[in-house]
Amino acid sequence: MQIFNNVKQAQDWCKSQKSSGKTIGLVPTMGYLHAGHLSLVRMARQKCDIVIVSIFVNPMQFGQGEDLDKYPCDLKRDTELLENEKVDAVFAPLVRDMYPEGYSTFVQVQGEITDKLCGASRPGHFQGVTTVVSKLFLICQPDKAFFGQKDAQQAVIIEKMVRELNFPLTIVRGPIIREADGLAMSSRNVNLSEEQRKQALILNQALLAAKKEIMAGQRDTEILKQGMRKMIASQPEAQIDYIEIYQADELKDIKEIVGGKIIMALAVKFGNTRLIDNLTVEV
Ligand code: PAF
Repeated sequence: MQIFNNVKQAQDWCKSQKSSGKTIGLVPTMGYLHAGHLSLVRMARQKCDIVIVSIFVNPMQFGQGEDLDKYPCDLKRDTELLENEKVDAVFAPLVRDMYPEGYSTFVQVQGEITDKLCGASRPGHFQGVTTVVSKLFLICQPDKAFFGQKDAQQAVIIEKMVRELNFPLTIVRGPIIREADGLAMSSRNVNLSEEQRKQALILNQALLAAKKEIMAGQRDTEILKQGMRKMIASQPEAQIDYIEIYQADELKDIKEIVGGKIIMALAVKFGNTRLIDNLTVEV
C-alpha cells in the first residue's frame, strides 16, 4: 500500500494509474476509521480497479469553538485497517500542503440546501467540505467517490456540486452502518462518556418510532417531529440542535407527507459531542 503525504506525489501517481487504463475509487475520510468507512472502502474495492483513501482532518470545515482539537486521530491504526482491506493508496496530506500560506480559493454551493440543518448550526462548514472535496477530486482524479449516507446533507450538496461543476466522476452513497445497539457509527462516538453513549441510543429509537408512525398512516411532519423531540428530550444530557423532515432528494420542506422518499434528520449534542443521524422512508 502506497502512503502519500505530498499532494504532487499523490496526483502524479493517480495520473499514472489513470493513463494505464485503471479506474480509481476515492473514499474521502477524516480518519479514525470505523466500520462505516470500511464498508465504503469495500464498495470502492468492488467497483473500481484502484482504491485510494484520503485521511485529512480538514480545518476549513470546523468553525470556531468546534471540536477540531478534539477530533480523534490515529494514523497508524487507520493505515493498518486499510492495509487489511487491500487498499492501494492512502493520501494523508499535511494542512500546510493542502492550504499553503495565503490560500484563498473556495468552492461553495449556495442556497437552501446548504443553509439549513448542519449549515444553519455550523456556518461555513459546507464551504469547507466542498472546497476540500474539490481539491481531493482534482488530486486523486477518481472515477467514483464514496460518501456515507449518515452525512446525507453533505452527500446531497456534493452531488449538486459535481453536477454543476461537471466533475467527471460519479458519487456513490453507502448506507449508514450502526453498532449492534443501533447507534450510528461515527468517529466522534469515542468522545461520549459511557452514560452519554447510553443516552444517545434514543436517536435511532426516535427515528424508528417516527417511521412506525408514518407506516401507520401519520402524515403530519409537525406531529412526527414533536414525537421525536419528546423522546429525545427525555434523555437528561441531550441538547437538540435540530429535528427535521424533508423530501429526500433535494431536502425540500414538507408539511405533509404525500408520497415519495422523505428523510428525517437530526443533530443532538451530548455534552460537547454533536451527533447526527437520519432515516429515509419511502411512502
Ligand atoms: O465526511 C467526512 O468525513 C468529511 O466531511 C469529508 C467528506 C472527508 C471532507 O473532509
